[in-house]
Order: sequence, then C-alpha cells, then structure tokens
Amino acid sequence: MGRRCWRRLVLVAASLSAALLLLGAVTRALLPDSENRVLGSGWLGEKRRSPLQMLYDLDQGPSSALAEVHRERRSLLRRACSRHTRRQRLLQPEDLRHVLVDDAHGLLYCYVPKVACTNWKRVMLALSSPGGQDPQAIPAQEAHAPGRLLSLADFGPNEINRRLRNYLAFLFVREPFERLASAYYNKFAQPYSAFFQRLYGTRIVRRLRPHPQPEALARGHDVRFAEFLAYLLDPRTRRDEPFNEHWERVHALCHPCRLRYDVVGKFETLAEDAAFVLGLVGMPDLRFPAPPSRTKAATMHDQAIRLFQDISPFYQRRLFDLYKMDFLLFNYSAPSYLRLH
Ligand SMILES: *[C@@H]1O[C@H](CO)[C@@H](O)[C@H](O)[C@H]1NC(C)=O
Repeated sequence: MGRRCWRRLVLVAASLSAALLLLGAVTRALLPDSENRVLGSGWLGEKRRSPLQMLYDLDQGPSSALAEVHRERRSLLRRACSRHTRRQRLLQPEDLRHVLVDDAHGLLYCYVPKVACTNWKRVMLALSSPGGQDPQAIPAQEAHAPGRLLSLADFGPNEINRRLRNYLAFLFVREPFERLASAYYNKFAQPYSAFFQRLYGTRIVRRLRPHPQPEALARGHDVRFAEFLAYLLDPRTRRDEPFNEHWERVHALCHPCRLRYDVVGKFETLAEDAAFVLGLVGMPDLRFPAPPSRTKAATMHDQAIRLFQDISPFYQRRLFDLYKMDFLLFNYSAPSYLRLH
C-alpha cells in the first residue's frame, strides 16, 4: 500500500464517527424476535415478520434443502473471509453506494453490474411502489435512474448501522470471468456502447496500442479483449481511479467481508435464488423477470471460452490473481478453460 493510501486511511479514520468504525467488527447473528422490533409493524400497519426474522425462522425450523444451500454459502463466505482477508481499511458511507435500501420491507441489496442488477433494481422499485407494480413493466432506464432507489451511502453512520443490524442483506454474484466477458461484450463490442467506447475505449487505445489509427483514437470502438485485459492489469489504471463498476470486483463493490450478507445469490441459479429472497420478503407472487434461458446461458459460457482462449497463460494467471478474492469468497473454481499452470 502506497504512502498516499495510508494518508487517505488516516483521513478516513478521522472523519468517521465511532459507530461506523464498528462496521464489520461486530458480527451480526440472525436476530430473534425481541431484538428485531424495528420492523414490527409493516405495510398496511399489519404485524408481519421481517425478511431477516423469516430467515431466522427458516434456520430454526425443519431443514429445507434450499435453506441449507444458503446456510452453507454464508458459512463458506465467512470462512473464506477470515482465511484470506488481512487488516482492512475502514469503511465510510460512500463505500456503501452500491447497497440499496428498501425500508418498507427491511431489505438491503448490493447491486453488482452484469449480474441481473437491472432486474433486481426493477424488483426493488416494484417493492417500494404502493400499487404492487409488475417489475417487468419498469423500463431499464427508470431502474437505473439516479436517486430512484436509496442507497446506504445516503444515510449517516447511526442510520446505516441500524439498517445493517435489522435488515436482510443480500447480493448476487457470478463466475468472475463470465462476468468480465459479459462486461467486455456489452461495453466494447456492441454498437450501442458508444458511450463506454468513447470514455474507456479511447483511453485504452491511446495507452496500450502501439500504432493506433486516428479513428480508433477518436472513437475507441475496436478495443480487443486482450487490450481490455491489459488495461485492467496495468497498474496505472487503478492508481488513477477505481475500476468502473462493470468490471470492479464484487469484493470491492459490496465489501462482503465487512458487511454481513444473509443471502448470497448466484447468477447461475438466478431463478431459484430470486424466489428464495422474494419468499423471505413475503412476496412470493412477485415475479422476478425471466432469467436468461439455458441456451442463452450456454452461449455466454462459450463466449467466455472463446475470448479467453486467445489470452496467454501469463495474462490469464495475472487476471486470475486480480479476481482471486471473488473466486474464493463465492466458491467459484478456476475455469477449466484457463491454462494456469
Ligand atoms: C462449493 O463448490 C463445490 C464445487 O462446485 C460444491 O461441491 C460445494 O457444494 C460448494 N459449496 C458451497 C457452500 O456452495
């Protein structure tokens, strides 16, 4: 860690209130009834159990296969965190920008781009709309419109900690290299990605292409996958600014070793995991927008294989190291198509 970073750490530490300093230091067990009264009266003034209480009940009750899967994912995450994380910097509210809040139901959702986050934002909007809107009817731009959904970063330390203690926190993750391949396809290889091409593509071409054409310099429209990866691995990239959220590691977006996530959903089992969360919310009838079909999923997997097969083992290894925490924390093994050894 550079000197500059340390200086920032000290500043961060000084600007935080004591409450936020505790973030992540306190392990939150699933709370029994008496400690979770904040949500005692829910919508329509009726007594209902919060999603966190529902999960607690499920864990106390007769074991169900699905609850067991989620319990194991949680404990794997916890073990991996204690094994692989060392001293961590302190969190400040701005670090929690990705954690979206639903106060009506007691939910926290950390959104990860390229992992069905548009659909989850639609669902979060539908949950907070009194009329019980159909999530599929919400346009994508509206789901992503800034300010439509509150984030934890909008609150002060005490308000953040109260929500962290009492709400059900969940996130959805995906095999890291498929997520990366998807980000590349979406942001650099599609004709509608002019914005990203101009913003990041031109930068990549300027910095990493030996003899760029003027058109490529101006438009950044023909970035190759290998160039994109070289940009990610270039130490200058993260020195200048954090990664864009589409390729930033989940570890860095959601702080899964500092915040307690109660449900770790996976893109690979999106439909079941979404139903599990909506069941806990007490909205089993809310329809999660259809996940990618089996064929689509297979195509996305093939796409990742094709993209990575042109990448040298040296780069593959370095890239694996860059995304290693996401592999470890969420139990993904190194893809078989890589040549890591
Ligand atoms: C982790 O992955 C392995 C191999 O895919 C699987 O057998 C195991 O059940 C997973 N564990 C958890 C907690 O998800």
